[in-house]
Amino acid sequence: IVAALGDRPVVLIGMMGAGKSTVGRRLALRLGLPFLDADTEIESAAAMTIPEIFETHGEPHFRDGEARVISRLLDGGTKVLATGGGAFMREETRDRIREKAISMWLEAEADVILRRVKRRADRPLLKTPDPAGTIARLIAERYPLYREADITIASRDVPHEKIVDECVAALH
Ligand code: S3P
Repeated sequence: IVAALGDRPVVLIGMMGAGKSTVGRRLALRLGLPFLDADTEIESAAAMTIPEIFETHGEPHFRDGEARVISRLLDGGTKVLATGGGAFMREETRDRIREKAISMWLEAEADVILRRVKRRADRPLLKTPDPAGTIARLIAERYPLYREADITIASRDVPHEKIVDECVAALH
């Protein structure tokens, strides 16, 4: 598989809580590739957490930084790269991912996402009185674009290794 990828990265896209980081890390281990998480890279570049970036500079500033970081990470050899849920919404980033990588959408249902993100307070977009409504709105906006990914994997409540098996099979 790795040879067939050439120097193209595998880029995981999908909503918060879809399992991009967890599945991505395990997929990279299986493939013997480095794993990088765009959100983590943005945090180290900014020396701030994502909620701090949103609070201090606002979402548009975060999005600009995100686009730059992802564009840099798409170069420099094959790897598994997890991206934040909003990254694929920017046309320029989407085009670059399409051009340079294999995109893999971890598709998750709204109730699964809501259950998973409730356990964590680090999603600034969900600091709203109605997180379920926000998730429904984001799904409506984003899924038509996520659907353009090269590969779609259903992220269900099964052991992560099973999802990783499906990712590996889809790359063959
Ligand atoms: C966002 C998702 C987050 C992070 C930021 C915005 C989004 O990443 O980039 O909070 O727009 O969906 P995860 O998808 O890794 O949670």
